[in-house]
Amino acid sequence: MKTIVTGSYAESSRILADMFECVMRTVEEPLLGLSTGSTPLGMYQCLTEDYSRGLIDFSHVHTINLDEYVGLPRSHSQSFGYYMDKHLFSKVNLLPENTLLIDGVGEPEAQCRRYNEFLSQSPMDILVLGIGNNGHIGFNEPDDAFCASTHVVELADDTICANARFFERIEDVPRHAITMGMAGITQAREVVLIATGMAKAKAIGALLADDKIDPRLPCSILKVCQNATILIDKDLADYIQ
Ligand code: GLP
Repeated sequence: MKTIVTGSYAESSRILADMFECVMRTVEEPLLGLSTGSTPLGMYQCLTEDYSRGLIDFSHVHTINLDEYVGLPRSHSQSFGYYMDKHLFSKVNLLPENTLLIDGVGEPEAQCRRYNEFLSQSPMDILVLGIGNNGHIGFNEPDDAFCASTHVVELADDTICANARFFERIEDVPRHAITMGMAGITQAREVVLIATGMAKAKAIGALLADDKIDPRLPCSILKVCQNATILIDKDLADYIQ
């Protein structure tokens, strides 16, 4: 696992977009692993701007998303499907049939099976991850053990509080989600975790502090990946030291 400290969040986003664009240019039919939250927004903005300038093409690209809230349809403004439509899919020439998402109102076991079958045949070429304040990746919450495959998870209280800012009332935040598990995540050929802001300092500090892999700090699983990068800006790095 390597760490890159950039001058700013904008620079981190640019570097991340360049990593994605490099895969899009060099792999014949790339599979991009995508995540949501506020942190990857800068990368999506770089990608959509580069697409409008004619610098990149998505017609040969496939995507898979990490996770989704249980109970939210794609039309709900806080579903991750809605987020992807808004920030990427509606702005580039990705073919809808090449984008794989969890259906928040589909039958959960069937959703998990579909994801696991897909991932067992097609590892991602590159995956972007954000990180929860409690160190979660996707919706793999701190626990006694890691879960390997795609599964239904009960969200941690920390996560419900952190994500309440996107909903009118905290009671509106779904209590469950479906997330890709650690097998899918660690099989990606390249994993990039981007973090910014002081709220992430505790988790990133703990991740970089030692060589341990601890299910109470889910992001620590990235230490088993062949090619994982932690991308943080100087402000966050200064706060950790
Ligand atoms: C959610 C998502 C994660 C994301 C995290 C942090 O819980 N499931 O994939 O990394 O939020 O989001 P933000 O970037 O808004 O801090």
